[in-house]
Amino acid sequence: MSITYHQPSRTFYLEGKDISYVFFINHAGYAEHLYLGEKIPHDLLLFTRAAGPGAACATVPGRDDQGKVPLCSYHEFSPELAFFGTGDFREPAVQATMPAGDRLTELLYDGHEILPEKPPIPGMPSLSGGATLVLHLRDRVNGFGADLYYTVYDDCNVIARHAVYHNGGRETVTLRRAYSFSMGMPGHAYEALTLFGTWAGERQIDRTPLHHGVFSIDSKRTSSSALLNPFLALLSPHTTEETGEVWGFSLVYSSSYVLKTDVAPNGSTVVTGGINDFDFAWQLEAGADFATPETVIAYSNRGLGGMSRAYHDAFREHLISQKYVKTPRPLLINNWEATYFKFTCQKLKDIADAVVGTGIDTLVLDDGWFGVRDSDRSGLGDWTPNTDKLEGGLSTIIDYVHEKGLKFGLWFEPEMVNEDSDLFRAHPDYAIGVPDRGRCYSRHQFVLDLTRPEVRDEIVRSVNDILHTYPIEYVKWDYNRNVTESFSFGRDPQRQAEFAHRYALGLYDICERIVRANPDVFFEGCASGGGRFDPAMLYYFPQIWTSDNSDAEDRTFIQWGTSLVYPLSSMSCHVSVCPNHQTGRTTSYATRADIAHLGATGYELDTSAWTEEEKEMVRAQTADYRAMQDLVLEGDLFRVGNISDNAFAFVLVAKDKSRARMVCYRRMGRPSNEIIRLKMAGLDPTKQYYVKELGLILGGRTLHNVGIVPKFPKGDFSTAVYTFEEK
Ligand code: DGJ
Repeated sequence: MSITYHQPSRTFYLEGKDISYVFFINHAGYAEHLYLGEKIPHDLLLFTRAAGPGAACATVPGRDDQGKVPLCSYHEFSPELAFFGTGDFREPAVQATMPAGDRLTELLYDGHEILPEKPPIPGMPSLSGGATLVLHLRDRVNGFGADLYYTVYDDCNVIARHAVYHNGGRETVTLRRAYSFSMGMPGHAYEALTLFGTWAGERQIDRTPLHHGVFSIDSKRTSSSALLNPFLALLSPHTTEETGEVWGFSLVYSSSYVLKTDVAPNGSTVVTGGINDFDFAWQLEAGADFATPETVIAYSNRGLGGMSRAYHDAFREHLISQKYVKTPRPLLINNWEATYFKFTCQKLKDIADAVVGTGIDTLVLDDGWFGVRDSDRSGLGDWTPNTDKLEGGLSTIIDYVHEKGLKFGLWFEPEMVNEDSDLFRAHPDYAIGVPDRGRCYSRHQFVLDLTRPEVRDEIVRSVNDILHTYPIEYVKWDYNRNVTESFSFGRDPQRQAEFAHRYALGLYDICERIVRANPDVFFEGCASGGGRFDPAMLYYFPQIWTSDNSDAEDRTFIQWGTSLVYPLSSMSCHVSVCPNHQTGRTTSYATRADIAHLGATGYELDTSAWTEEEKEMVRAQTADYRAMQDLVLEGDLFRVGNISDNAFAFVLVAKDKSRARMVCYRRMGRPSNEIIRLKMAGLDPTKQYYVKELGLILGGRTLHNVGIVPKFPKGDFSTAVYTFEEK
């Protein structure tokens, strides 16, 4: 990794593991993008610029194009940060209303620094470490400025970027848009890939060709949401899993965001995004800074698989807690689908008894243990154990579970309150809402106003009280509705449009004070399943409940899509009962386990109903999982085939290529005896491998080219697993 400045050409060369990022400062002082791609030498790249000014362009302010060095308007250049009002007509990254009412910012080069390590972004999670370039841009008239941060790593193919805006004037400025980055791309022959979804159907893949004008995805929900993950990739034509160039843009952010492309008539493309500027305005006082969330830009010339591996490496090495990221995860039984709200202490004990000796090591008590909570209509916000239901209190079940040699986990939904709760009765204004208007109900609950310090203090106090009183090893942090009626009691009317970003800052603050302040408790994230599955949440939660849909067939789509950006180890996946509670579908136990074992695994069903035979089967499944968990935690992922095909495979390969596991899946079993062959991927072509299930030693090159003909058991939704060991 290195960052070099070539003074004569004013060019910056940033190098990551196998990638180069190059830009330069042009005559006008504008930072012009030149290249992001495979690592290249430090050649001068100015020849790649557009051939010359187009017709009828505005000139750079103060310079006539009849002058000695003709300069056409800014929108002819590929921007490192597009700004508004002085001739750049593309989607700007920043727009601010100045004290006089003008909305102009001309952000030109004003120096740079090269730091050995990236400083943290105040109040927000971000990747750690990495050599960093800080590019200072300033408007010489009004003092408004932007510092652009660029961080490269020697162990992954990403570049992390964000901007910090600065009001260098004497009066308050209103930020109306404050995106994290802009980046120019040559040409416009790209497909946009996005991950759309819904509750129980998160992160499905959409691919669409870019068109002239603006293409955009966003969230207006004060959460990153299940609807569109805060991620966009641009793909060169005909990109597959292992071929083609891909540029990925992943926002480390959990609130309303936007990501967009703008294709200009001259055929060039700009990518930009960050905090959603819809319903956003921020009062930036004189001398104040505004930090934006980080964007992790990945580059791959090995197709989508290469991009995924770049993100997996970056998030595992630089984002997710190093204490937990590569350590074996709790292998848990969760009581939610077993009992929902209707549990007794005895039922929980029976569930615990049944898993002893099966390899399951943690019991997680889900929703319903606190306040008055026999349904989702009451109790949220009252984090005091329900002594009737728990027959004495939390200690009764915690002690029992510990005596059985299991660890104990507990569910919370810290950001929420029910109208029917002591907290709401005492502090109705703690719930987000607009005075004199009704609030929308969603799951019969309201969202607490995390923008207010006293509300955050109350949440931190009540959750930490429980964590400090009882020996709890694991927490599931849920979030089950979106924000409506965005408004904060007591906040200045001028500042109400700061709400969505202030909510994110409030969320990160309570995560710091609960998650980071309890380092020995393992935290899992959740949001009605995977409704807030984003890199910022991964910074706090090493794993996130991927979806409330635990059906193995539907999970293949959800986990495939999620794995485009997020490592397998971050996806919490459970084996549940059949017929499945969400889809009514029946799949075999083996299929359910093989698919759930492609993540941080667990079980979620009534184990007290297990037969001895089932216990024996689960014992074998958990032993198999523990034997290969390092591949889930640290391995490289290769997706083979297409998720829309009848058959495909997930391949997990050890970093040193000594071991691998191929989980083949077939949706429909067909009597016509369809011949399926799936080519293995990711092995060392020069090595020999013992394929246990075939009883054969085969070359890596053979396995890549000839492939495997999986022997699926008869029936629909079946798996066939192959293991490879270097000989
Ligand atoms: C939604 C989660 O996704 C479920 O796993 C469960 O914890 C429920 N909430 C509990 O209310």
